[in-house]
Amino acid sequence: MNALALQKPASVSPIGFTVAPYPASQRLQVVTLSADTVKAFKSSCETYSVQAIEYKPFLRFALAEALDKITDYSLGAFLHATLRDRNTGGFLLEYEGQPVNTEEANQEGDFHVQLSTAISHICGIPNHDAMYGKFYARFTVENKDNSDSYLRQAHRRMELHNDGTFVNEQTDFVLMMKMAEENMDGGDSLLLHLDDWKDLNKFYHHPLAKQSIQWGAPPSKNVSTKVHHPVFIDEDVNGNPQLSYIDQFAEPQNRAQGLYLHAMGESLESEENCINVRVRVGSMLVVQNYMWLHGRDKFVAHEGLRRELLRQRGHFTR
Ligand SMILES: [Fe+2]
Repeated sequence: MNALALQKPASVSPIGFTVAPYPASQRLQVVTLSADTVKAFKSSCETYSVQAIEYKPFLRFALAEALDKITDYSLGAFLHATLRDRNTGGFLLEYEGQPVNTEEANQEGDFHVQLSTAISHICGIPNHDAMYGKFYARFTVENKDNSDSYLRQAHRRMELHNDGTFVNEQTDFVLMMKMAEENMDGGDSLLLHLDDWKDLNKFYHHPLAKQSIQWGAPPSKNVSTKVHHPVFIDEDVNGNPQLSYIDQFAEPQNRAQGLYLHAMGESLESEENCINVRVRVGSMLVVQNYMWLHGRDKFVAHEGLRRELLRQRGHFTR
């Protein structure tokens, strides 16, 4: 990591939350909401039930406003600055008093939907999730799965990738929240910042870096059209590379493209700067999607294995 990454990510004085770098990467900011902030936000949540925010999109912004106001708007300012700063671009959001067992996790299910909705609407606006038909997806990973992608398959590593590769919507950020977890051993989130990828320049300056690739999705994604874009999409406002890559859904049309993508996958999977992040129940990871790759480490098989996750993908609005 370069020295710039060690600078304070945003000159905002936090009110009602604390900030500390994640031990394995100074880039990732750990944001912890105080117990008082959570208490005040929970009373706002009484007005905006999960059903209400599903039915009325504008209430999602009311939730975001309620949380941001409790922090005197310092939370919104910090999260915006963090996501846009190339040296950081991601945070792990936690709060004081997170569930410590399954019973507590189940009790807080609605609150976790509300909290993630507030955060996503502070960061921007979620895209419609075609797989689940809502602005968020909530799904369970269990010991057995017969799906057509690695998303819900427990016993294998889900390789590093960016989201939104096979849709035409801008996917500036990805939010991944842990809703519940039982009998899990392993399964950490995996993250790699583009600037920590040692082979970045080798692939970025390759003749195929900007050549259009075809992308398609398996039937479960409910996206039938093909999209075409290069793996290195347009640079960010400062001219830095941005990646839109996923191994499973690339449909190379010739051997050169196939070999380029294969080599990229091999390089990413052997990158030692990839970090493991333990996401506790009630925590959420939010990353700028085109500067961070994400994945999931494999689990240890267990009959009673169960993990519930919530996902939102969206774009910036300012
Ligand atoms: Fe993903």
